[in-house]
Amino acid sequence: MARAIICRSWPRRILAPRSTLHCHNECGHHARHNNVIAQPQDEHGAEPPSDAIVIFGVTGDLARRKIFPALYAMVSKGTLQVPVIGVASSKLTVTQLHERVADSLNHAGTARDPAVVERLLSLLTYVSGNYNDPATFSTIKAALAGTRRPVHYLAIPQSAFETVITSLGAAGLAENARVIVEKPFGRDLASARELNRIAQSHFPERSIFRIDHYLGKEAIMNLLYFRFANSFLEPIWNRNFVASVQIILAENFGVAGRGAFYETAGALRDVVQNHLFQIVALLAMEPPPRRGYGAVHGEKAGVFQAMRPLVPEDLVRGQYAGYRNEPDVAPDSDVETFCALRLFIDSWRWAGVPWYLRAGKGLAQTTAEVLVQLKPPPQALFADSAPADGRANHFRFRLAPTSSIALAARVKRGGKGFVGDQRELYLCEDGVGDELPYERLLGDAMVGDGALFSDQQAVEAAWAVVEPVLVNHSPAVGYEQGTWGPHEADALTAGDGGWHQPAPEKDCP
Ligand code: BG6
Repeated sequence: MARAIICRSWPRRILAPRSTLHCHNECGHHARHNNVIAQPQDEHGAEPPSDAIVIFGVTGDLARRKIFPALYAMVSKGTLQVPVIGVASSKLTVTQLHERVADSLNHAGTARDPAVVERLLSLLTYVSGNYNDPATFSTIKAALAGTRRPVHYLAIPQSAFETVITSLGAAGLAENARVIVEKPFGRDLASARELNRIAQSHFPERSIFRIDHYLGKEAIMNLLYFRFANSFLEPIWNRNFVASVQIILAENFGVAGRGAFYETAGALRDVVQNHLFQIVALLAMEPPPRRGYGAVHGEKAGVFQAMRPLVPEDLVRGQYAGYRNEPDVAPDSDVETFCALRLFIDSWRWAGVPWYLRAGKGLAQTTAEVLVQLKPPPQALFADSAPADGRANHFRFRLAPTSSIALAARVKRGGKGFVGDQRELYLCEDGVGDELPYERLLGDAMVGDGALFSDQQAVEAAWAVVEPVLVNHSPAVGYEQGTWGPHEADALTAGDGGWHQPAPEKDCP
């Protein structure tokens, strides 16, 4: 049995806006060195931090699931000390708002320190109003009295983005301000372009933060680090050695009360065009030609621009049994809760290498994993050099729920014959960091650091890839919950050894 090699700590903060960071080297010794990639100040100059947060959609699902726990964590670490103004149309008393915060922290399983909750609530005020009513923005302005550089967070349905951004501009609330826009940014190429135009007519590009919380996840940040902090990868990271790449984002639950949102989105818009494409970009991008995050943005956009626009034959859409009975879902809905696709990147590095993506709800497990399948040796010196199932050596990146990297190589079995087995060298993260993605991203936006956000070029190029199949596609096929999706998806990978089933979780020894 090959020995597993365990590395217990990866650098915790690899794209920090700070100029230096702490990390552990592979032996666990503490090291301190300069951050070589993220140097936002190089590009835009240091800017003062935001002195208030306005959260549109504060009574919504996102606030409940992610934003309040992030705010709590920030208050508990002392990184949030400015007023937080929640805005929504519901008429809530202060007590009801406070109950929502408590409910959110309970739901997130956040260990609660009453003193921290007290501090968070003392920062929080609430404005109730319709986004179409200019009076709502006058009330926000009054609530912001005494502050000079607010950040407006649009945690609202994308159909309301334009109204809110335009009203912020009209009310003079865009001056010296930043804006964070939730995903999906637009619902197709034309709407993303229009939204960019509107946002840029009120805010400079460096003050627009297009959020994709996957970019704030430790395991995803580590993809970039792993690729460019190691020299051994570069010679094999291309079409000569890589046979195919698979990425899966599976969830073992349904739309969980978000039927109304899902009916407007579907899996392709909800997680593929953004979360999965961001993972593809980090894996496929060219080395940035210079330091500074602007270069990383440019290279990532280059990947989307090199992606071949999808055709209907590249896509299988599925819908889990029971989806049509979910609240706010049409009884004859054709919206996909599962999506499998084949993608090509027509670049020098990746020409001819298929990228297979799968995402779905109601699947067998909640997990996210990448499999980079390497080609077998060119000659079958041993009978099992090229395994019958087509699976030769691989890299496997576990992104959720735990974070690890495995390299599978063949190792000889003890005995006379030259036969062996594939074993994994396993690099295991013993924690996923103590910063929640939304905590990290909110904190970054407040200091004007756009490193972990998407830029206009990338968002539009990613929409251009999916645009041809947004409307022109086959009907969603049914699948049972608790499975890996519809069998129809198997045809996509049939020529490449089939779909990779995410490996069971391994414990970090
Ligand atoms: C969100 C999607 O962006 O990402 C959800 O809207 C999805 O549908 C979620 O469940 C997955 O993110 P995470 O961080 O919970 O894995």
